[in-house]
Amino acid sequence: MCGIFGYVNYNVEKTRGEISGALLDGLAKLEYRGYDSAGIAIDGDAPRETYIVREIGKVAALRKKYEATGYNQDVKFTNHAGIAHTRWATHGEPKVSNCHPQRSDPNNEFVVVHNGIITNFKELKTLLTNKGCTFESETDTECIAKLFKYVYDVNIKNGNHLNFAELMKQVLFEVEGSYGLLVKSPHYPNELCGTRKGSPLLVGVKTDKHLKVDFLDVKFPDIENSHAINLSKDNLGLDALPTSTSTLSTSESKTLQSEDGAPQSSEFFFASDPSSVIQHTKKVLFLEDDDIAHIANGELQIHRATKDDKLAATRSIQTLEIELAQIMKGPYKHFMQKEIYEQPESTFNTMRGRIDFENNTVTLGGLKSYLPTIRRSRRIIMIACGTSYHSCLATRSIFEELTQIPVSVELASDILDRRSPIFRDDTCIFVSQSGETADSMLALQYCLERDAFTVGIVNAVGSSISRGTHAGIHINAGPEIGVASTKAYTSQFIALVMMALSLGHDSVSKIERRKEIIQGLKHIPEQIKKVLALEEQIKELCTKDLTEQKSLLLLGRGYQHATALEGALKIKEISYIHSEGILAGELKHGSLALVDDELPIIAFATRDSLFPKVISAIEQVTARGGRPIIIKNEGDSGINGEKAIAVLEVPQTVDCLQGLLNVVPLQLISYWLASNKGIDVDFPRNLAKSVTVE
Ligand code: F6R
Repeated sequence: MCGIFGYVNYNVEKTRGEISGALLDGLAKLEYRGYDSAGIAIDGDAPRETYIVREIGKVAALRKKYEATGYNQDVKFTNHAGIAHTRWATHGEPKVSNCHPQRSDPNNEFVVVHNGIITNFKELKTLLTNKGCTFESETDTECIAKLFKYVYDVNIKNGNHLNFAELMKQVLFEVEGSYGLLVKSPHYPNELCGTRKGSPLLVGVKTDKHLKVDFLDVKFPDIENSHAINLSKDNLGLDALPTSTSTLSTSESKTLQSEDGAPQSSEFFFASDPSSVIQHTKKVLFLEDDDIAHIANGELQIHRATKDDKLAATRSIQTLEIELAQIMKGPYKHFMQKEIYEQPESTFNTMRGRIDFENNTVTLGGLKSYLPTIRRSRRIIMIACGTSYHSCLATRSIFEELTQIPVSVELASDILDRRSPIFRDDTCIFVSQSGETADSMLALQYCLERDAFTVGIVNAVGSSISRGTHAGIHINAGPEIGVASTKAYTSQFIALVMMALSLGHDSVSKIERRKEIIQGLKHIPEQIKKVLALEEQIKELCTKDLTEQKSLLLLGRGYQHATALEGALKIKEISYIHSEGILAGELKHGSLALVDDELPIIAFATRDSLFPKVISAIEQVTARGGRPIIIKNEGDSGINGEKAIAVLEVPQTVDCLQGLLNVVPLQLISYWLASNKGIDVDFPRNLAKSVTVE
């Protein structure tokens, strides 16, 4: 779970300062993917020299260390290739020797940045150690760098001068696991090679006017998966290698190059996600698993590491529609705060062009032609992790009510652990903000192997889940940078409700209910605005009563159970205060023992059919000296808030949508608790935005 970034300039004069600046700025945008250490590799002053700078902590610490190196920042490079990495540790604790780039040897012949996990790294390490390699780190990545040098040396010894992509293809043949990978080497000056399998990687393309990329599709003829050498795990040795190797003929790849062959200038960017390239270019090519992207002499070539008939033999350059301003903090102190405040707009964008409020209809382009298939399903299984899982719990009941299909909600890791039976007449809905979460990806694979119909509800366009599912809905919430998910939750919630409305479209008995919900949805954006106006009251409540607490309970029932779980997750992940969401009906079965006059208890007491039962749970709390914080509907006199620490009033909406409004005060409470404690809200300890490891 890391961020990788690469930059190549071709026929464009750049100073070292500009190049390192581009790399460090790219990294800073990827920091949400991991931030325990960072590093860059650029060309040195002497020919074939590579400078590597690495530091523990965030990109700012790396920038400081880089600036202290004394490297001449004014040296100009007309052609150059650099790579960079921000890390979230999986193998090896955060220390300088474990930072990326990892290298093959003290001369930095091959330097590698990697996002993912190499599962056979122990075997590779043993084999390479037996061949005389000395390892400097505890990372799995180092074995890739060393393997590059090893395979390169063997080929040279045998008289084979492979190009960079051919070399990468041979190396990948030995590597198992998941990776987004970038490699730089003085043997291939000014070139970069990148590949992915299970971890995201894209290429940003910025060229002069000669290169037409707007409409270009990169097509691949079928290629043979012919590996000339096979470094058998048992026999990784020079003797095992034949003297000739296959080459990737030009027919195996397509090149983006100048139309008229005139000298061109170009810049290319590799990145884990588009947010880091958008300031340079909007033209991007999302790589598929097993693609090898090779940049050399101002050209981008795409090769396949394996023959995979299932993958479309086409890659398109896409034009991104997000603006840089969308991923900047604007007037807010933290991305999380900005994202909480974006919800009136992001929820509106989720519905835009999809709901006709005049005629009370919902049209979801990405699902329309699959609705009959889904309606025929024996059951619907929603699969997700963390906050995305909570959005499934929040909408399960309305989904069942509108579709009359049984719905179960599963944590992605758990469905895999149980090897739960999945059938071809199941519809599996994968909900994910990033679309890259490893547990959800593996569960998707599992369901596809069992021929289930799969739907992705995803925020990140072009992400693995959005591409890997049969059909889907983009939630259109815009980039979410803060590690704690906020606007994605409310947009996922709405997308799921819209899906249920579309599926239930034929049911006459539900016409009135559907109308009520659609009209309720119409007012959600403006109602969220009203809830946001509670911020001052919430800030004061946090400062006066909550920041010093060790623990918090959240009570909810029915639709609000999911809100309690989501609120508790928000609080614990960014303020580090223990918090627990409890189904109000379960209080008397154990948790009531925790109640005393110290422990704050946040209770969701907005109006729905379970309101009287929630009131009775609050009474159980106050009868034992407990002082609740009550979230109720505006002007509701049916609740006695006398014994409460605070009462927060939110507008009323349709019962099944009330969670969209009730969650917002909790997002603000978690934000102010963390902020008051001086925690770096966007980068809570031990967490990363996109969890691309199991
Ligand atoms: C919590 C949070 C995580 C994610 C979870 C799934 O604020 O953000 O719990 O919801 O890691 O991530 P996605 O939705 O990207 O699959």
